[in-house]
Amino acid sequence: MSDTLETMRADAEAIIARYPDFPRSALGPILHLVQSVDGYVSPRGIALAAELLNLTRSEVSAVATFYSQYRRHPNGEYNVGVCVNPLCGVMGGEMIWDAVSEHLGVGHDETTEDGKITLERLECNAACDFAPVVMVNWEFFDNQTPASTIQLVEDIQAGKDIHPTRGPDKVHSFKETSRVLAGFEDGHVDEGPSAVGPTLLGKRIAAEQGWTAPQAVAGSPSDTDVDETAGTEPVGKPGSSAERKEETK
Ligand code: FES
Repeated sequence: MSDTLETMRADAEAIIARYPDFPRSALGPILHLVQSVDGYVSPRGIALAAELLNLTRSEVSAVATFYSQYRRHPNGEYNVGVCVNPLCGVMGGEMIWDAVSEHLGVGHDETTEDGKITLERLECNAACDFAPVVMVNWEFFDNQTPASTIQLVEDIQAGKDIHPTRGPDKVHSFKETSRVLAGFEDGHVDEGPSAVGPTLLGKRIAAEQGWTAPQAVAGSPSDTDVDETAGTEPVGKPGSSAERKEETK
């Protein structure tokens, strides 16, 4: 991965070419691209995005400061996020945060002296069924404890490969992950399971019980949102549960 501005410009232009009708849609991926090279949304990256998309630097900065995935100062090689939103928090997320923050000697959005880890208090990652969760470079580590998370950060600092609960076989660096988020695949996108266990429990129970989603009543407010070709069926329609059982096997 080259770190030259020229290469970054060529890659940014390739991203923009994906959006021929509305080039500004390329801004998000370009900011990830900048992070893949500079490790954060750097001033030169902001200037490049503004130039290529005919935006002001202020407009680019407004986007970069709105979304927490964009870093405003150099990130560690691994971004370790502890979810402390209500569900994870009451399931142990706050205890994990306290233990790991004390162990590493850094607080929210701070980086360890060796540059390995930036620690972050995360909002909900939509993985509440595996609470409490920790994310490393946006890969999931489910059902964590203070001890397991301390082991995780010790492995990172020791230079060991770390393996998420779901997703790819191992967690790649912040810069490598940022390049994937910019839309340049690394060949690992289909590795590992994504939806497993608790996430699918409701679907499995519904299949076993023969439950299906109710059909919208003609003329109801939600009726206009229903795709008539999508196969919605009335509750308990004969013959539907077996098909769904097959789908969930
Ligand atoms: S509250 Fe932690 S994943 Fe939802």
